[in-house]
Amino acid sequence: MGYEQLQEAAAAIATLSGRESHSAAMVLGSGLGDYAAALPDAVAIPYADIPHFPTPKVAGHSGTLYSIDVGGRGALVFSGRVHFYEGWSLFDVVFGVRTAALTGCHTVFLTNAAGGVTKGLAVGDLVAIKDHINFTGQNPLHGPNDERLGTRFPDVSDAYSRGLRSEMIAAYEEAGVSYQEGVYTWFTGPSYETPAEIELVRRLGGDLVGMSTVPEAIALAHMRRRVGAISLVTNLAAGASDQPVTHKEVQEAAELAKSKFTELVDRLLPRLVADPA
Ligand code: HPA
Repeated sequence: MGYEQLQEAAAAIATLSGRESHSAAMVLGSGLGDYAAALPDAVAIPYADIPHFPTPKVAGHSGTLYSIDVGGRGALVFSGRVHFYEGWSLFDVVFGVRTAALTGCHTVFLTNAAGGVTKGLAVGDLVAIKDHINFTGQNPLHGPNDERLGTRFPDVSDAYSRGLRSEMIAAYEEAGVSYQEGVYTWFTGPSYETPAEIELVRRLGGDLVGMSTVPEAIALAHMRRRVGAISLVTNLAAGASDQPVTHKEVQEAAELAKSKFTELVDRLLPRLVADPA
C-alpha cells in the first residue's frame, strides 16, 4: 500500500466527479456530516466507489465524498472519516486527505467534535485550532518515507496555517460567530479521558481533546499543504462537569450547532479554494 493506491484513488475521484482537479477539501467531523447533503449541485461519490478508500463504520459518519463548485473551482467535502480506534492503520486514517492533496488540493480544512478543557469554553463553541499536542505516541509517518509525498523529517511548526487563521477570523466575523483559538490534544480513544488525564492536558496547555484531526494534519504538513481546522465543543471534558461524557450528547450538540456551523463554512469555502497568499 502506498503512493500508487493514492494515485488510483485520486484518478477515480477526477473521473467520477467529472472535475479534473480540486483546489481545496474539507473533512466534516462527528455529527457535522449533514452540511454536505444540503449543497447545491454536489456530485456525490460513495467512499465504497473509490479504489482503496477506507469506509467508516461509526454511527454519524456516512462515508460520502462530495465534489462541489465554489466560484468556478472544485472543492471536495468528505462526509465521514475513519478513526484509529476502529482498528484502521494510520495509513488508512490519512488516506482520504492524502488523496485530496493528489487531486490538486492546496488546502485542507479539518473539522471535529471535541471536549472542551479550558475554563470558559462552552458547548456549541467553534474553536479554531492553532496547534496540537500528540498524546498518543502514534504518527502517520511511521515507517519508510516516500519522498514523493514529502521529506523524512517534516516541519510542523505551522501545521495550522497562520495565514489561513487570519482569513478564518474574517469568516467568523461575517458569520457573526465569536472567534476563539485553542490547542487540540489527540487521544486515540475510544474511551473518553479520565478527569486526571484532562487535568494533565490543562496543565500542559491543551484546550480541547479529541480522537481525530492530528494524524491528518501531520500527513498534510508532510505534503506541504495548507491546513485549517476547527473543533466544535460538544461537551465539557471529563471532570469539568459532574456529568459523564456520552456519545449521545456529542451528537446532540453537533445537531444544535448545525446552523452556526453552516453559516461559518459557507463563508470559509471561497477562502479555502482561493490561491494562498
Ligand atoms: N474527548 C475525546 N473526544 C471527544 C470528546 C471528548 O470529551 N468529545 C467529543 N470527542
